[in-house]
Parts: sequence; structure tokens; C-alpha cells
Amino acid sequence: MYGVNCAFCHGSDARGGEGRPNLLRAELVLNDRNGELIAPVVQNGRADRGMPAMAVSMPRIVDIAAFVHSFRVGGYDVSRMRPPSIVVGDPKAGEAYFKTARAGRGGFGGPAAASNVPPATVTVTPASGPKVEGRLVRIDDFIVTLTLADGMPRTFRRDGETPKVAIHDPLQPHKDLLRRYSDTDIHNLTAYLVTVK
Ligand code: HEC
Repeated sequence: MYGVNCAFCHGSDARGGEGRPNLLRAELVLNDRNGELIAPVVQNGRADRGMPAMAVSMPRIVDIAAFVHSFRVGGYDVSRMRPPSIVVGDPKAGEAYFKTARAGRGGFGGPAAASNVPPATVTVTPASGPKVEGRLVRIDDFIVTLTLADGMPRTFRRDGETPKVAIHDPLQPHKDLLRRYSDTDIHNLTAYLVTVK
């Protein structure tokens, strides 16, 4: 059914073609489970945008949807769409970005190698009793686990703000940056870093 009705435009591998969308990456298809979102598109078409309405019955659309969902979405067909290089940024722009980010507050800091980064530590202040400090092992909404200086693990139940928990993560400035990088920054930085390898 797919081969007869859809492959001509969306490709036999469902990855699309000139002006026709890749179905495997289409959000609508990713959210579809059993054809319920695909059906209206097929049955009503999008005449103004090159997708014809087709009188395909619901059971057939369910089968077509199952076929489309059977493709692996991760990875890509190496026979087509293979990028010549994933390094697509501008190394000069990347270098400039690297230098300003490094000079700026909350930037890259020193040239510490990843393996030299000290582990995150945590200070837990119970409602009564002394503060406890150690290396952070695990934290979620319900518990926090740390190892003390002597290697002993301690776990505290968490209930809202009690006990008080303060995490000291040396990589936090990096993690904060993740939300501020644009795709272009990342591509340029990567292109620059490749040149200094
Ligand atoms: C004549 C070419 C053609 C045929 C045949 C065709 N399509 Fe399309 N299809 C398109 C085009 C062009 C679009 C993009 C429409 C748009 O921009 O909204 C599209 C869009 C879609 C979308 C929506 C994607 C999205 O991101 O919103 C789905 C789902 C889809 N087609 C499924 C199918 C299925 C299933 C078949 C076979 C039953 C089929 N199409 C047959 C051309 C075609």
C-alpha cells in the first residue's frame, strides 16, 4: 500500500525527496501511534501544498502507519544523505567565540582537562544536628546520598526544603552554558576545536 500510494513522493525509505517531507522525522508521524494522525492528512490531503487527498480506508492507513513506524528513526541510510563532514561551522567565528567566552564571567574557566575536574560535593543541613558534607552520589526529589571523607555513604530523606541541600558542582558553569549556546555557536566552536587538535 505504501509502495503504491506514497513512495512516489515520500521515497521508498520514507525519507522524502525534493520538496516532499521525510516522514520518519515529521513530528506528526513521530506522534502518531496507529494512523490516527496520519489518516486526516492522507484522507483530506493538503492540496495547496502538494499532498493529494487519497481515498484510503482507515484499516489500510493503520497498515501503512505500521509500515512507516517500522523504520529505524535513529541513524540514517548511508546510501543517501550522508553528510560530507559533520564539521560545518566557521573555525574563525568559533575561535572568536571561544576567546570571548573564556574571558567572560561564567565562561570556560581554565584549561582543566575533563579528567581533572573534581567531583560535585554536597552540604546537607538537617533540621537538627550538624551539617554533613561529602561527595554527591545521587540526588532526586526524595533522597540525597553522599559519601563522607572516610568513604562511608550517608543517605537523607528529602521532604521539600528539609534538610537543606547545597550542591557544589564544578561543572555548573558549563551546564548553565548549555542553555545559552546556539546551534551556530556549537558548530563554530567544533570547527575551531578541530583545527587545534
Ligand atoms: C504527490 C505527492 C505525494 C503523495 C503521493 C503522498 N504525499 Fe504525503 N505529502 C506530500 C507533500 C508535498 C507533503 C507536505 C505538505 C505540507 O507541506 O504540509 C506531504 C505531507 C505528508 C504528511 C505530513 C507530514 C508533516 O510533517 O506534517 C504525511 C503524514 C504524509 N504526507 C503521508 C503520506 C502518506 C501515508 C501517503 C500515501 C498514502 C502520502 N503522504 C502520499 C506529498 C505526497
